[in-house]
Amino acid sequence: MSRGLFITFEGPEGAGKTTQIARLVERLQDTGIAHIVTREPGGTPLGTRVRQVVLLEPDLQVDPLPEFLLYSASRAQLVERVIRPALERGEVVVCDRYADSSLAYQGAGRGLDAGLLTQITHAATGGLQPDLTFLLDLDPAVGLARAATRGEPDRLERADLGFHQRVRAGFLALAQQEPKRFCVLDGTDSPDELERQIWNMVVGKLGAIRTEGQV
Ligand SMILES: Nc1ncnc2c1ncn2[C@@H]1O[C@H](COP(=O)(O)OP(=O)(O)OP(=O)(O)O)[C@@H](O)[C@H]1O
Ligand SMILES: [Mg+2]
Repeated sequence: MSRGLFITFEGPEGAGKTTQIARLVERLQDTGIAHIVTREPGGTPLGTRVRQVVLLEPDLQVDPLPEFLLYSASRAQLVERVIRPALERGEVVVCDRYADSSLAYQGAGRGLDAGLLTQITHAATGGLQPDLTFLLDLDPAVGLARAATRGEPDRLERADLGFHQRVRAGFLALAQQEPKRFCVLDGTDSPDELERQIWNMVVGKLGAIRTEGQV
């Protein structure tokens, strides 16, 4: 039985995922809680190459289905080589995006069939679901404006605003379907406020594991 805690961060571009992960990881470090931090696509040598192909080569033609399959390949390798072993060691795993991003971007955003995506995702992950998912929600126009300050836009940042609005709606629909797993946060709250809310939830989950022996 896996005894760690699997936490994912989701949300549109520029919502503050990477910022909040850095803050959470600092708190885990300060508290002496064993953890790893990883991201999608990426986290393994294969995943890093997939990231290069799907995000960082904006002129390369990648259609929606192959795009999804590439993300799934990265995910399968990450789960098998990194996430499951860490959970089995009892560690907290913090992941910057996971399967919900595929459902939101390639499903709601690009229009691929949700049933097909769910089936392939199940095969890629062996059914591994996060214990806790923070959805940083905000108007995509705000998020894209934030992300624009970072320099060259990647493939997804270049997509039109309608796409990003469908992605946001897709994330919110997922959160509604699984209210126990998701914690929806207002991405326009201050970074300090978000950090506090996230830490309170994580401490609560860790407390539940310790007292009940399960998440
Ligand atoms: N709560 C916040 N309020 C205002 N600005 C923020 C907040 N959180 C992060 N930012 C700023 O917004 C920008 C994007 O933040 P960040 O990189 O953490 O987002 P992200 O969700 O990881 O984006 P991406 O999906 O592109 O990886 C950064 O410049 C960051 O400093
Ligand atoms: Mg980020």
